[in-house]
Amino acid sequence: MVKQIADLPPSDSVESEDYLLNYQRLLDRDRFPVPDVLRMTGTNMPATVEIPTEWYLSREIHEREVERIWKRTWQAACREEDIPSIGDTWVYDVAGMSIIIVRSAAAEIRAFFNSCLHRGRPLRDYPGCVKELQCSYHGFTWNLDGTFKTAPCLQEFEINPAKFRLPEVKVGTWAGYVFINPDPQCEPLEGFLGGIRSQFTRWPLEQRYKAIHVAKEMPANWKLVQEAFMESYHAITTHPQFLPAMDDKGSQYDAFENFSRAISPVGVQSPHLKKKLTNQAVFNAASGAWDDEEPLVQLGENDDPRVLLAEMARRTHRPALGDSLDSYCDSEMIDAIFYTVFPNLHPWGGLGGLLTYRFRPLDERPDKSLMEVIMLYPFSGERPAAARVHRLAEGDSWFEAPEILTLANVLEQDTHNLTNLQRGVANNPRKRVVFSRHQELKIRHWYDLYQRWMGLGTSAGA
Ligand SMILES: [Fe+2]
Repeated sequence: MVKQIADLPPSDSVESEDYLLNYQRLLDRDRFPVPDVLRMTGTNMPATVEIPTEWYLSREIHEREVERIWKRTWQAACREEDIPSIGDTWVYDVAGMSIIIVRSAAAEIRAFFNSCLHRGRPLRDYPGCVKELQCSYHGFTWNLDGTFKTAPCLQEFEINPAKFRLPEVKVGTWAGYVFINPDPQCEPLEGFLGGIRSQFTRWPLEQRYKAIHVAKEMPANWKLVQEAFMESYHAITTHPQFLPAMDDKGSQYDAFENFSRAISPVGVQSPHLKKKLTNQAVFNAASGAWDDEEPLVQLGENDDPRVLLAEMARRTHRPALGDSLDSYCDSEMIDAIFYTVFPNLHPWGGLGGLLTYRFRPLDERPDKSLMEVIMLYPFSGERPAAARVHRLAEGDSWFEAPEILTLANVLEQDTHNLTNLQRGVANNPRKRVVFSRHQELKIRHWYDLYQRWMGLGTSAGA
């Protein structure tokens, strides 16, 4: 049976949970008005506290995910700026499915199942700009709007050209992402996204451009990989370099409808460090300075590292964002505000991260996945061209994508865990993994949604 939080006895922890208010206390001393979105707390208290390891391992679960998740949920397939011109196409592959996204008119995006209605060859193998969708096998051709155009020796077929259009996949857009949903009966994207749309009004990702896109093959189930990017709890042992400059323990975690978020404050030391650091040491760690380097700024005794970090971030973004920056509070400038939209999109809010992560199964394997790092930068003037996908194989290091700068070091640390995780999970004698009440709340909420979509009741997976 999958344990629910209601099944547990009340917490007998002797440690006070007062640290849960750490982030809100930092907001109290922010120099700028704090927006409601940072003051709000979650509307949803997740129930799941442990799940069967089988969910990461089994072929049957993978196949159920294809039917119940990948064929039914809204998924971010590409960015609008990946297909800026009429005729631009994108190919989105997930768990054996393939979908073509096409800009069919200046203000119109359509999506089709990537399979020729003649003999089934994929219509597109990779992105690119085309005048029509032509199968490279026998030349069956469709217009960009999916209507049938022509085929060689058409008179030999019992085909009504007017009815031989490509079956469409539902399309929607939010935050500059093009979402698709293969289920013709699905709810509208707006309803599915719910309150996240208003939570991002101050951080309009559609006004940024895709400056970096790295996709790396990973040796673990897609859920195992994605969970490593849904909490700051693992910083203490996986990323100890963060501890002088980030409050991992005092991060805020909130669950809403089909999405959740975490906020990890930056420029403040972790409560796990017993020694009180100087403001200079906190600032140096947050700005990535080595111990023997000249610090970027010399802090006075009363200088708050968060203020100086926020000022540095303002200087970085002012050329693109101008005076609109002055409407943001310091927390929005520097803290890690990381959202999760079910099932697999992880856009960051504020201006502190500029990141989006995305995860999905690789090919049709439960033990392999594709992890993507997308960086969305503000710009002024003409929209720069979107970055092409830089693909890394499983054996490649993140350092082979130098465009992600120091993030490569962090992702290498995460990948060091993930490389062995699939094997470790398979060896787990208890056949269960457990999640913490607060710091793993996003994962618990995600599994509430997962069980609902998968049709797995509280006794499933046993
Ligand atoms: Fe990590």
